[in-house]
Amino acid sequence: MKLLVTGGAGFIGSNFILYWMKNYPEDEIVNVDKLTYAGNLDNLKSATPSPRYKFIHSDICDAVALREALVGVDTVVHFAAETHVDRSIMEPGAFVRTNVVGTHMLLEAALEARVGRFHHVSTDEVFGSLELGSTKKFSETTCYDPRSPYSASKAASDHLVRAYFHTYGLPVTITNCSNNYGPYQFPEKLIPLTITNILEEKKVPVYGDGKNIRDWLHVEDHCRAIDVVLRKGKIGETYCVGGLRQDVDNNAMVHKLIGLMGKDLSAIEFVKDRQGHDRRYAIDWTKIQRELGWSPLHDLDTWLVATVEWYTKNQDWWRRTKSGEYQSYYEKQYGAKQ
Ligand code: NAD
Ligand code: DAU
Repeated sequence: MKLLVTGGAGFIGSNFILYWMKNYPEDEIVNVDKLTYAGNLDNLKSATPSPRYKFIHSDICDAVALREALVGVDTVVHFAAETHVDRSIMEPGAFVRTNVVGTHMLLEAALEARVGRFHHVSTDEVFGSLELGSTKKFSETTCYDPRSPYSASKAASDHLVRAYFHTYGLPVTITNCSNNYGPYQFPEKLIPLTITNILEEKKVPVYGDGKNIRDWLHVEDHCRAIDVVLRKGKIGETYCVGGLRQDVDNNAMVHKLIGLMGKDLSAIEFVKDRQGHDRRYAIDWTKIQRELGWSPLHDLDTWLVATVEWYTKNQDWWRRTKSGEYQSYYEKQYGAKQ
């Protein structure tokens, strides 16, 4: 099989390429990535020498480059996106361009190339926000109710993907998953931000009252879910993917990390809340479990230990990402004193 992976230099895309090359040694992978601030070819150092792996430095909005990249490709796995909610609040335009227009360009190119599968990687954020204290969960039948420029752009991309299935017969599948964690995550997101700030002896910024809840999924479980959907998923279907059975709020998450790193809670600084901050996400993943036999294998407490170890051992990797553009973003988001 020959796969085109978009956004393969990002957090989940690079984990997916490494996962796929290990588990499917006969397959070829073409990685199309624009290398925005979030793209990092260091993540793929072990894949780069392989004749089965090819990198194309391109924007998914470039139709000519996509046409060339798709030659001989059977399967598209679409990760490329602008992904950070806080940046979408500052500058929504880039999110509309890549997530909506870029996905449209890729759908057009995939249709023309007659690929056998177009898998779209999406998010639980398209479903909006659940109330604190409720036991409700998002599932494949939950109505869309996106509330940030990021989630609105991802919702638009999901709708386009489904439209290309119903209208043109493009063989699509979609996964909507929860918050991933693990190696190679850009340190603007809560878990790597917390770990790396502690390693730098900086404060850990917690938005609002810290009671917001996310459903945490280890990135390798996410890769396993995409794998099972590519092999056994039904064309036209959506699968929700989550990692937890019980709620963990941001205070609890940050307390766990601080405890693992031998610090005390004085490391926390409560800061101004995110505008429109979604309160609670929780995923009902029984469909993918029942129909495709997937369930998460990585329990949170064990894999947080491994994640802290990874960022502790790989300081060169994240210290490079925290220089340059990151500094001006950080000051804009958190203020100069942080
Ligand atoms: P990321 O921000 O770490 O990486 C995104 C990658 O896309 C980068 O390599 C970047 O260079 C590339 N990219 C951005 N714009 C591009 C463009 N116009 N053309 C080509 N490449 C471009 O993202 P991630 O966290 O790995 O997320 C991957 C996908 O998974 C996204 O679609 C995201 O919406 C979805 N998702 C992420 C999470 C999460 O917790 N991280 C959860 C649910 C869904
Ligand atoms: O739910 C899936 C989504 O998870 C993905 O679609 C997004 O691409 C990904 O960025 C992530 O979005 P979140 O906004 O949930 O992730 P983030 O790590 O930015 O924030 C997690 C929670 O922590 C959220 O409630 C906001 C809070 N937070 C975040 C940061 C960066 C803080 O309290 N302080 C912070 O400094």
